[in-house]
Amino acid sequence: ESSPDAARPLEGRIVTISAGGTREPLDPVRFLGNRSSGRQGVAIAQAARDAGADVRFVAAHMDIPTPDGVILTTASTALELRDAVFEAARGADILIMNAAVADFRPSEYADTKIKKKDDVADPVIHLVRNPDILAEVVAERNANDFSTLPPLIVGFAAETGDAETSVVEHGAAKLARKGCEMLVVNQVGSSLVFGQDTNSVTILSADGTQPVEFSGTKTSVAQVLIETIAARVDSLDK
Ligand code: CTP
Ligand code: CA
Repeated sequence: ESSPDAARPLEGRIVTISAGGTREPLDPVRFLGNRSSGRQGVAIAQAARDAGADVRFVAAHMDIPTPDGVILTTASTALELRDAVFEAARGADILIMNAAVADFRPSEYADTKIKKKDDVADPVIHLVRNPDILAEVVAERNANDFSTLPPLIVGFAAETGDAETSVVEHGAAKLARKGCEMLVVNQVGSSLVFGQDTNSVTILSADGTQPVEFSGTKTSVAQVLIETIAARVDSLDK
């Protein structure tokens, strides 16, 4: 066996990363969306690539270009992203679910542009739940001893905290609920994170290792995340 290159700790690994934000259409010209720019996901893809990984990048409505040297697939809605993530995750060592997935979609799609109606003063949009892609990948992997889905699955959570519960407490509960191996908890507020270049994160691990706290540019957050993941993935090898 050749000696591992310290600068390329993910050499020989396949890393699937979802990024950006889904759009849920109402009619041909309108959608429900979110403010994810894709910047953090791009920085993670670059860090993983520079660490030697083969990167499969699943992008939904990015504000910025796809990085060089990754295999790109695109998706628009949560349902499309689910299919794209499952396909790109099979055979991968690591899945990083950075995309902002709409929790709900309009229950009906109008084939033609919705028009104002004088007799309907306050129209109502009905929503239905989207699948939880992260939880579904974990569940399918755990249900099958010979699954080719990744042994290391990393989720993201944007949390604000509230009067009773801190950002990290919300994150720990979400990590347990999702069943993934790691959760990157972002502290968010109206002017924090979305579209900005810096991030404040806590990386929680389900195996009980100490949380990793870090603040910095999205590039440096990505590098810390990839280092933390690289250390963990080696310990999962049989
Ligand atoms: N996620 C997903 N599918 C969804 C919603 C979220 O795969 N339908 C993933 C996100 O990509 C992220 C993680 O789950 O990695 C956490 O997303 P978040 O929105 O924080 O969690 P939710 O379970 O949707 O909880 P909340 O009600 O707080 O939005
Ligand atoms: Ca959500």
